[in-house]
Amino acid sequence: MNRTATVKELKRLLKRKNIQPSGFVPTMGALHAGHLSLVARAIKECRVLTVSIFVNPTQFNDKEDLKNYPRNVEKDLEMLSGLMRENDIVFTPDTHEIYPEEDTRIFNFGNLDKVMEGLHRPGHFNGVAQVVSRLFDIVDPQIAYFGQKDFQQLTIIKELVRQTGKMVKISSCPIVREPDGLAMSSRNMLLEHSIRIDAPIIYKTLLRAAELIKTAEITDIKDLVKSTINQTPDFNVEYFEIADDVELVPVRQKSEFDKGKRYFGCIAVKAGKIRLIDNIEISLF
Ligand code: PAJ
Repeated sequence: MNRTATVKELKRLLKRKNIQPSGFVPTMGALHAGHLSLVARAIKECRVLTVSIFVNPTQFNDKEDLKNYPRNVEKDLEMLSGLMRENDIVFTPDTHEIYPEEDTRIFNFGNLDKVMEGLHRPGHFNGVAQVVSRLFDIVDPQIAYFGQKDFQQLTIIKELVRQTGKMVKISSCPIVREPDGLAMSSRNMLLEHSIRIDAPIIYKTLLRAAELIKTAEITDIKDLVKSTINQTPDFNVEYFEIADDVELVPVRQKSEFDKGKRYFGCIAVKAGKIRLIDNIEISLF
């Protein structure tokens, strides 16, 4: 596997022959099995894979969160070297390499970034769109892989591709969980011990919500999800919404469910000082 921190060298590596389809997995590092599932899938489907490791400052609306975000590139490289092939590439740029000048672009995603994560993390998705569009321009992949863990991000990336007309297929990959059900996340390693012990309550409650949709109304399910999780010491639900995966419109009652669409229950929880997100498909029919 090759490693480079410069756009120039990356582009040189990507000019080699017989590299199509070329795949891309963008990450912020502190890799875990969730990231590696994207990498494994990309390796199956692509002749050459680029994995980027870049903690993008423009998507952090909270300075403390950016400062505390786990970084361990040496360990990341070790994990990747177990999977990646001779021709594959790890791209580890610094901020100046990605943003030689300040990125002042403002994207318009309509409703998509006004709900859920967008509402609670102002500017977050604009920063994600800045870095992903910049990385797509540099890597120019045929297929890019994103995890369903970041449900709203996935929808917004699809919209970004539609708006920019970029010829890249967006592949979505299922959520990888710890054995106790907690969705894997780089932030999990920041959880205090007692909070980590209680954290599976989030997925357990989502499973319950997915079951209850057959018999209960949405407002009752929302109340139950919030009260169950909020009863856990130091756990506070920021939002729980059930929304479709294209327009991200939160539904208020079951009569609004449309047979042609897929719906997901999406949650953000403040667990101690750490913010966790998760989601589950909610099928009424
Ligand atoms: P990061 O949080 O590092 O995640 C990189 C990719 O891994 C994302 O597509 C994310 O959805 C996926 N992923 C994370 N945890 C997962 C899990 N448990 N199961 C499956 N996939 C998982 O998302 C970002 O970085 C950034 O916003 C980025 C897109 C790189 C732009 O900076």
